[in-house]
Amino acid sequence: MKAISFQSITKQYDSPKGSVRALSNVSFDIEPGEFFGLLGPNGAGKTSLISILAGLSAASDGRVTVHGHDVQKDFAQARRTLGIVPQELVFDPFFSVRETLRIQSGYFGIRQNDDWIDELLHNLGLTDKAGANMRQLSGGMKRRVLVAQALVHRPPVIVLDEPTAGVDVELRQTLWQFVARLNKQGHTVLLTTHYLEEAEALCSRVAMLKQGKVVALQRMSELLGASTSNVLKFKIDAILPEILAAKARVTGRIVQLPASNAAEIESYLTVLREAGLYPEDVEIRRPDLEDVFLEVMARGDVPQEFVA
Ligand SMILES: Nc1ncnc2c1ncn2[C@@H]1O[C@H](COP(=O)(O)OP(=O)(O)O)[C@@H](O)[C@H]1O
Ligand SMILES: [Mg+2]
Repeated sequence: MKAISFQSITKQYDSPKGSVRALSNVSFDIEPGEFFGLLGPNGAGKTSLISILAGLSAASDGRVTVHGHDVQKDFAQARRTLGIVPQELVFDPFFSVRETLRIQSGYFGIRQNDDWIDELLHNLGLTDKAGANMRQLSGGMKRRVLVAQALVHRPPVIVLDEPTAGVDVELRQTLWQFVARLNKQGHTVLLTTHYLEEAEALCSRVAMLKQGKVVALQRMSELLGASTSNVLKFKIDAILPEILAAKARVTGRIVQLPASNAAEIESYLTVLREAGLYPEDVEIRRPDLEDVFLEVMARGDVPQEFVA
């Protein structure tokens, strides 16, 4: 039995202005107990795929099962198996945190759930907010409640759609510790995120979507090991010469340049020297997930606009 099975999923949104093909023939399986990353630029189709998985929107073609339950034909069973943390913050502002979680428990027919609710509140750093109304909470706190809400019925499969977008570092760490522990206890996790460092640290396997198509599906270790190029990394205070700027990933003073061999590294350093620039903290490292992601997305002839 697969935890999740996407079988030839196609999704088309039709409107009077025309139609958008958000997903084309997407197929892959997630095994029970996996920590799986679904990555891709904005608009790649990640949320569309998760909405279909959640049974919230119907695929134009294809089929999804969760623990063998078809998400359309066997909605109740599939829904019970899933805990979904949606990308959008949706909640009722008039209920307190605890009420919100009790109502969600009731929705799954669970009556006495306060022990588990207390444990969720504790693990998500929400204990002192239990009595607060949802509208009084900051964005980060609301996000924590959404996570708790997804978990009230102890679902074996947990799906998180950009759970750390716009969230502070502390919550990110609290959340990842908790989700990693649930995964160790046997829960399957499907995660989408723009934070590729987080995905690299957490996920054992990933799929990359580009314009609604699967363009990579691999174990994390294979994905990182397969790249033939290394990365030249250094710090610099000046503006980079144009020829390097075109190839570089620049974050403040940190510059990172993919280099397929020693000669290329030498040529980069020569360009800097001839421009009278002196890089500091020079190192050569293996590519990380962000490098691989950029490489995969740059491949092929499909024009891309994306946020990494
Ligand atoms: N309800 C909708 N109606 C029309 N187009 C949509 C709708 N939802 C998403 N899309 C389009 O489908 C594509 C994929 O979007 P989405 O699934 O949200 O991607 P991602 O989550 O990867 O950013 C985008 O082109 C988006 O504009
Ligand atoms: Mg999305």
